[in-house]
Amino acid sequence: MKITKTSISRLKSTDFSNLPFGTVFSDHMLICNFKDGKWGPAEILPYGPISISPGSKVLHYGQSVFEGMKAFKNSNNEVLLFRKEENYKRINRSAVRLSIPEIPEDIFMNGLDELLSLDNEWCKADEGYSLYIRPFIFASSEGVKASASEEYTFMIITSPSTKYYEGEMNVVVEEHFTRAPKGGVGSAKAAGNYAASFYPTKQANAKGFQQLIWTDSIEHKYIEESGTMNIWFRVGDKLVTPELSDSILGGITRESILTLAKNNGIKVEQRKILVSEVVEGIKSGIIIEVFGTGTAVTVNPINSITFRDEKLVIPTIEYSYAIKLKQELQGIQKGKLEDKLGWTSKVVSKVSLS
Ligand code: COI
Repeated sequence: MKITKTSISRLKSTDFSNLPFGTVFSDHMLICNFKDGKWGPAEILPYGPISISPGSKVLHYGQSVFEGMKAFKNSNNEVLLFRKEENYKRINRSAVRLSIPEIPEDIFMNGLDELLSLDNEWCKADEGYSLYIRPFIFASSEGVKASASEEYTFMIITSPSTKYYEGEMNVVVEEHFTRAPKGGVGSAKAAGNYAASFYPTKQANAKGFQQLIWTDSIEHKYIEESGTMNIWFRVGDKLVTPELSDSILGGITRESILTLAKNNGIKVEQRKILVSEVVEGIKSGIIIEVFGTGTAVTVNPINSITFRDEKLVIPTIEYSYAIKLKQELQGIQKGKLEDKLGWTSKVVSKVSLS
């Protein structure tokens, strides 16, 4: 792999005590192009602007998919990637749905290893830090005919991060707009899903809510996700989360929490969840915890749910499943707890750099 190192690292001039999520990028990026029916060689370059044609299909038709993944530093100063195989499988599932050619495994995996080895100092070992990794593929053919592109660009950029959300999480049930329709691309990590969520989210923000609860596109009766997170309800001693469908993104954190909960003897149900059931459950006190999961947030408690004009506050409890499962997940991610499930892998470079 061709690697061009930056001549001026931004590492020393970066303020690691102030990292609003996704705003600071590490020194290097990976780029690889698909042309004439095949993926070419990947290359690592200093992070910086790229040149694309104004006629690039991604700009007109949004043919683009991405991933969100995280790396952590353990106490031996080694960089650990969390469940990279799952992100690899998911970017290709998303790619297939968006008519994008799948990325070969060696490009994705070696690309991560080399990029993260080179920028390993951007991944801090201190408590609360991780390196957020954003692999993405976009349509780069020039032409405004509404058809799948013939050329694509795959890139990986990384961003040192701390918290995604600050403060309370008060959410409102959305009964008009929808994140993803049945038969649509909701289960793919398609860029357009996020673009479509911004307008309804802004309206909710203006009313003082941090996020929305997305409901199904047909009746707005069933709960799907919250903001960019999968959502969970603790009903007594059981955890309940919406079952996956073509309008729900299958989170890797969701799947990890399902596994950890089961291994802790917590009963878990994946099923359709009615909005009315949640409203009544919070009022009657059967629902004692609500939280969201996602790569960026890990596990995030939800403090209140507003349905129509009624704000239902979820009181904080002493023995919280969200806190327990988050601590266990983060312990594995940072190499502090034994990784019995083989979820982490060390970043190892195969290239000797001068
Ligand atoms: C994630 O949490 O997995 C995400 O990709 C969130 C992102 C849209 C910032």
